[in-house]
Amino acid sequence: MITISLINMKGGVGKTTLAVNLGWNLARRKNKVLIIDLDPQFNASQYIMDFQVWDQHRKNKGTIADILSDTNPQPRQTVQQEDQWFFKELHIVETNQNAMAGLWLIPSDLRLAYVVKNPQGVEYRLYRRMQYWKPYFDYIFIDCAPEDTILTSTALMCSDFIFIPVKPDRFSVVGYGNMQEVIDAFRYDYPDPQKVQDLGVVFNQVKGDSDIEEECKELVSEKASYVFETEVKSSTSHLRALKEGTPLFDTKYARKITKKTMDSLVDEMEARINTYGG
Ligand SMILES: Nc1ncnc2c1ncn2[C@@H]1O[C@H](COP(=O)(O)OP(=O)(O)OP(=O)(O)O)[C@@H](O)[C@H]1O
Ligand SMILES: [Mg+2]
Repeated sequence: MITISLINMKGGVGKTTLAVNLGWNLARRKNKVLIIDLDPQFNASQYIMDFQVWDQHRKNKGTIADILSDTNPQPRQTVQQEDQWFFKELHIVETNQNAMAGLWLIPSDLRLAYVVKNPQGVEYRLYRRMQYWKPYFDYIFIDCAPEDTILTSTALMCSDFIFIPVKPDRFSVVGYGNMQEVIDAFRYDYPDPQKVQDLGVVFNQVKGDSDIEEECKELVSEKASYVFETEVKSSTSHLRALKEGTPLFDTKYARKITKKTMDSLVDEMEARINTYGG
């Protein structure tokens, strides 16, 4: 089981889009995949879940905000108790459309913002729970918010790898530097600092039509530990996929080449994980 955080301090670079589509893609390859929405904006939840379903789930079963605030009153000591709680009572959504079989989601909601305001002990709560869930999944993706808060430390604590989508523009060059500082600070502060490995940067929303874009790519590449050969081109199919709530590979009118990008990205990601002995 491998846990990967999609992270970047810069907003709007494609963390959610890629977390969800990598998840769908790996699920289609018969992996059991869990996505944890760790962003108060709950974009991954909105992408995958119908609003009404999300709303009912939030009210009746709770979200990641409940896991991190530890609002469940029942003490759980055994693996069986933890399983029952996780699978039957709370938080997990097994999406049921065709392409989504094998993909699970722990949704989020705005209350996650209150967790940020009251951060004591938060990062260990998810870490402890995940030890019980790990045997059930091949991959867990954590979709991070674009800020350095206790949620970032929580994600890093729980992850084997980080994966960094970068939109090649001027802001992203600075954003990438900020993110490296956050990772360095985390490694300094936490007990097992080398645990989180850097899978590398993937350029997303690449237009391929300007020198400025090329220059930004170069500046980020100089600092990056690895740059994925696969680039995700800018395409309206991503917007359509979001509107339809579908994986890119099932989106109407999407070009074959666009659909194939995620396949290449998954292949390269798996190869990259293997270089770490994963
Ligand atoms: N390759 C792409 N081509 C075109 N649009 C894209 C592409 N990737 C993402 N987008 C769009 O860009 C917007 C931002 O993407 P996304 O929400 O995935 O970014 P994010 O990094 O998760 O943002 P945040 O930091 O706010 O969580 C979305 O509307 C998404 O549909
Ligand atoms: Mg996002």
